[in-house]
Order: sequence, then structure tokens, then C-alpha cells
Amino acid sequence: MQADTLIHRCLTLARFTEETGHITRTFLSPPMREVHREVTRWMQEAGMAVRVDAAGNIRGVYGRGPRLMIGSHLDTVPHAGPFDGILGVMMGIALVEEKPPFAVEVVGFSEEEGVRFRVPFIGSRALVGDPVMDDSVLQAIRDFELDPAELPKAAVARDVKGYLEFHIEQGPVLDQKNLPIGVVEAIVGQSRAEIQFQGKAGHAGTTPMTSRCDALAAAAEGIGVVERTALEEGVVATVGRLEVQPGAVNVIPGLALASLDVRHKNAKKIDKTMGMLQTSAEEIAKRRGVTGWWELRSSQPPAEMNRLMTNVLAAAVKSAGHQPFRLSSGAGHDAMILARKVPAAMLFLRSPGGVSHHPAETVDEYVVNAALAAGRKFLETWRPV
Ligand code: HGY
Ligand code: MN
Ligand code: MN
Repeated sequence: MQADTLIHRCLTLARFTEETGHITRTFLSPPMREVHREVTRWMQEAGMAVRVDAAGNIRGVYGRGPRLMIGSHLDTVPHAGPFDGILGVMMGIALVEEKPPFAVEVVGFSEEEGVRFRVPFIGSRALVGDPVMDDSVLQAIRDFELDPAELPKAAVARDVKGYLEFHIEQGPVLDQKNLPIGVVEAIVGQSRAEIQFQGKAGHAGTTPMTSRCDALAAAAEGIGVVERTALEEGVVATVGRLEVQPGAVNVIPGLALASLDVRHKNAKKIDKTMGMLQTSAEEIAKRRGVTGWWELRSSQPPAEMNRLMTNVLAAAVKSAGHQPFRLSSGAGHDAMILARKVPAAMLFLRSPGGVSHHPAETVDEYVVNAALAAGRKFLETWRPV
């Protein structure tokens, strides 16, 4: 398969969305069925036996015995671009179409972003014996006509001797260096929390400013502290979602629910920042006479890629005629979960302008062809031992 077909397949899957006019596909939502239908066809045409596991991951196996797993995720953020995750699954199918010298399993993870249930990596965590068991997640699995009792069978097989993920960089580094592809050495850690401020709704016109318990004003002060603390501590911290109730122009907000995402290459730095932000949220709530809740939703330590496998990948990049530039990932990826169980390596593809988690996310054909060339060289040299 050449780059143009691979890109076309990503754009085909982009049509399957929860929101007309946007690309939004969350954990086991109805459009994921249409994605599974298309991906099943492409996997079968490539000679793979296909199944969907109890976590909703679609899994195609080519050949028998010790194998390489190539995968990424098929879910998206709201109003996403067409390549984040999806491209990595298409890369796996493309390489299997060329009949690799050993068995390969291609996985399209059901959920990596953590949008629908506010916890990331639901798909890949099922492969490493750490399934997300929230009632709402289990119910979504049943609604998709899958059986949570089968989750243990989703575990990565002992025959899988390595995991390789192709992914757009989603950042500016390769673009600034004018390089098409790069070898990932490590992925930053990330912690996510939900902070809730419960104040007292009231009349916007008759309630004096001095006697309000304004939940949104408390959250707004907290969001300012998040930004200031992140700058001081040298981490990245984001409040990406804010829900306000009752949400009327003439009602003092009684409830504000904010998400928090903190990342850094050092786990201790993340933990310290999360502790500082929890303390400050509690202080703001107390001073403003509102009630504050802090719920840690996920905590994923930083992950080093497997050194040996990464060296083979860097050599493959070089023999494909490209500079084996190494970089770390500020974005989270399923590779950091699989790395708990099998040697993992990642290849980044250049993101023009570093744009991602945005409809303007794109990838150039020559970059995809460079990644395919490096992937072919990798399959020539790496062995599932
Ligand atoms: O949030 C991330 O880093 C990734 O896009 N899931
Ligand atoms: Mn993403
Ligand atoms: Mn991704």
C-alpha cells in the first residue's frame, strides 16, 4: 500500500462520527461499529484473522507463533483531525499487506483519549491486565454487545514479543527540524483529575456581590492558579473541560466541574504539582464558602521505550535513508501502556505546524512513505524472539 491509499483510508474512517461536520468518535459509540466494519474488511483482505475483544479493541492476526504487535487507537477527541491514532492502525495493515517475514498482530484500540468516561487508555489497559472496571464503562461494553466477563481474554498473548506504534508527533519538533520521521525514546507521564466546586445558585440581579457563593468564580480563580503553578513548576497543565450549572445568564453558578491534565517527564514533579493544585483548590473553596471536591481520575507514570527495539528502529530509519532523530513525546500513547508488558517502540511522523487535536491536523504523503520505508526495514531486521 502506498501513502495515498493509507491517507485515504484515514479520511474514510473520519466520516464515521457522532457529530455531523466534525470528527468525534468516543469509546464504543455507534460510529465505532462502522469503523470496525471497514477495518475488518481491510484486515481480512490483508490475510488477517479478525476479532473484537471484550474491551472493544479490533485485533487482526497475520500468521502464527511469535509475533510483533502494531497498533494505535481508533477513538478521537471531539472535533479531532483524521490521523491521531488511526494512522498507526492503517500503518500496521499496510505492512501486513506486504507479507512480513513473521507473524504480526494489528490492534485498533477502542479508547485512548479518555473523553467519554474521563479515564484514558481503556482499550490498551485491557491488554496488560489492568482493565478499567468503572460501572459506566462495563455498561458501555454490554451496550456494544460485548461481555465484560471476557475481559481477561483481551490480555496480550505471550507470543507477542514486541509492540510498535506509528503516530503523528502532534507537536512542533520534527516540523522545526524539517525531518519527516523521528524515533521516540520516552513518553511523559500524565495525571488527570476532576475538581468540583459546589456553591449556591441565586438570582443574578438581586443577590449582593458580598453574599454570593459563586462556584464558577471559585473555579476561575483555581484555573488561574493552574496556569501560574504550571509556569512556575515547569510542567504542562491544562483545564480542557468546564461544566457550569445551571448555566443561565441570569443565575449565579451553583456548580462548576473542571478537568485537570498535568504532564511531565518526571513522575515526582507531576505528583508535587497535583498536590499543590489540590491544596490550592481546597483553600479557594474554603475562603469563598463553597464546597470543593477533588477526584484523581488517572495517573500514568512516564514510560521509556525499549532500548534494544528502539535501536533497531533507529537503524531501520537510517537504512531507509532518513536521519534517526530521537525525541520524547509530550502526548500520551498506548505504547506507554503496552510497555508495561512487552518491549515497545514508537515512530513519529511529522505534524505540519505541530497541529493536532484540531480539524486542521494533517500528514504529508512523503512523510507516510518515509514511515512505510522505515517500517519495512524494521521488519527486515527485527525478530520476535
Ligand atoms: O492526550 C494525549 O496526549 C493523547 O492525544 N491521547
Ligand atoms: Mn490524541
Ligand atoms: Mn493519539
